[in-house]
Amino acid sequence: MCGIVCYIGSKEATPILIEGLKRLEYRGYDSAGLAVTDGKETCLVKEVGKVSRLEEKIKEDSCRGTMGIAHTRWATHGRPSVPNAHPQTGEEDKVFLVHNGIIENYLSLKEELLKKGHTFNSETDTEVLVHLIEEYYEGDLAAAVKKVLRLVQGTFGIALFHRDSPDQIVLARRGSPLILGIGENEYLAASDVNALLRHTNQVIHLKDNELAILNRDDFSISDFQDRRVIREAETIEWGQDAADKKGFDHYMLKEIFEQPDAVENALRGRLLEGEGVSHLGGLEGVLDRLKAMERIHFVSCGTSYYAGLLARYIFEKVTDFSVEVEYASEFRYRNLRLDEKTAVLAISQSGETADTLAAIREAKRKGALCLGLVNVVGSTIAKETEAGVYNHAGPEIGVASTKVFLSQCVILTLMALLVGRYQRLSLTEGLFITRALRKLPGQLRRILDQAPRIEEIARRYAQYHNFLYIGRLYNFPIAMEGALKLKEISYLHAEGYAAGEMKHGPISLIDPDFPTVAIVPRDSTYEKMINNIQEIKARDGKVVAVAAEGDSEIAGHVDDVISVPRSIDILQPLLNTIPLQLFAYYIARERGCDIDKPRNLAKSVTVE
Ligand code: F6R
Repeated sequence: MCGIVCYIGSKEATPILIEGLKRLEYRGYDSAGLAVTDGKETCLVKEVGKVSRLEEKIKEDSCRGTMGIAHTRWATHGRPSVPNAHPQTGEEDKVFLVHNGIIENYLSLKEELLKKGHTFNSETDTEVLVHLIEEYYEGDLAAAVKKVLRLVQGTFGIALFHRDSPDQIVLARRGSPLILGIGENEYLAASDVNALLRHTNQVIHLKDNELAILNRDDFSISDFQDRRVIREAETIEWGQDAADKKGFDHYMLKEIFEQPDAVENALRGRLLEGEGVSHLGGLEGVLDRLKAMERIHFVSCGTSYYAGLLARYIFEKVTDFSVEVEYASEFRYRNLRLDEKTAVLAISQSGETADTLAAIREAKRKGALCLGLVNVVGSTIAKETEAGVYNHAGPEIGVASTKVFLSQCVILTLMALLVGRYQRLSLTEGLFITRALRKLPGQLRRILDQAPRIEEIARRYAQYHNFLYIGRLYNFPIAMEGALKLKEISYLHAEGYAAGEMKHGPISLIDPDFPTVAIVPRDSTYEKMINNIQEIKARDGKVVAVAAEGDSEIAGHVDDVISVPRSIDILQPLLNTIPLQLFAYYIARERGCDIDKPRNLAKSVTVE
């Protein structure tokens, strides 16, 4: 989604802003722009499409100056176009502003301004903010911003400057992240820490309803009631290296290959092997309350939702909790029983997903214990939940989530193990799980060694337009996740189904042009999966099976087999995920798709 980068210091701002915007490209956008000032002239350049096009345009204009703001826009109000791109300016071209989020009451505010004679250049909700700030400006930009933000409903992360104050950038946030970067004799700000890492690892996260003023040699933070906020800078541990492609063609492929490390990081210091239990420091403070819960709800979106679906099967197997899984976008509008006997766990890579955040706020209001499983340290969900666990998977840049999904599944297993060992899970079973967890990284590496073979299979399927993915029990969520990966990055139609549902509808789709990817572990579902496969073959459907190593029967039933090492039932789906990620990746590559930045998608969905 939209991205913000700002710079004030002694260096040329334009290259820093452009480089920062490039670091945010993975989030998804359709236009970009920047405004840079040298104290006398302000240069404003905007362009539809990639940041590289903006860069080209700037070469002609040559924007010089040591202070500026920049933006990548993901259209919500008004189509992608130069007038709708940010920075937005008002009638007098004095205020330059970039905005992430949505101003919900912009129409009524705009009507008032139109009555006063204002004319608008864009269709955006953002332009309304600029006109209002110009109206209220009496020499103090921050004061004008505070006045205007009192009138505004909705979400915003904004950064702006005024032509008359060329040594000051003002930032404000409500519901959309903004992070200050403290450099040497320079300050930066961005909506995503990745845009700051090249310059500094000292950051301060603005909280909701806070405003920051960046000057050339200092900065200050206050709330909207003018109360000063003192907050220490945090040190970000991710280096810029972690966010580079390291020789892989795409971030997605790099992140698929980072999964053994992501699993090792998820497990590091968290397994007490002799006791068959896990230790999760982030939950220590609430452990007694958590153990006493009757229900747990997993709330999340997209791939993180599928991690929750898998966790339901795992929790049901090892704990006494009754488990609910819900899309965050549905959860917040349902009348659910959320009381002191209920824990709600938000699962989110970014920690900024608007629906997940809103769900947590709703659950908090109703008295539930709110927990987070989040990858991005210091993100809003991490801050707004009472306790939680970090993935420590490193930055995930590819829009399609891979390594964080796997890490989520591992940590959710650790959570189940932790609670289960206080409930019904025996020491023997606990040991069984901890040992199997330990083996995962090595097993994942063996699957990744098969990438060339999976690529060869994927190439043969790249011309089909529809795919069915089927699995049972633990592998049903994995079938849905596999289908989501394919549709996200290759734009092909793919559906994930519980294999038992085949006869209730989807089997009507099967013909020689509609291949099926079947997940066929050697567990209690094996015979039934073989029956499903035979039904597909009887209708001339092609089948690719993800099956257990050593399964000598499966090849006789299907067209192609990808073998994965065997684990225990609850962890087998984690291994089965990898071939599906690679299958989707190689099909998308064969079709020439923009894998790291699929059309219409954003990495962090900060609007509802
Ligand atoms: C799919 C994908 C999305 C996200 C979803 C939730 O590959 O990445 O479906 O999983 O937008 O995002 P987070 O986990 O950041 O809340």
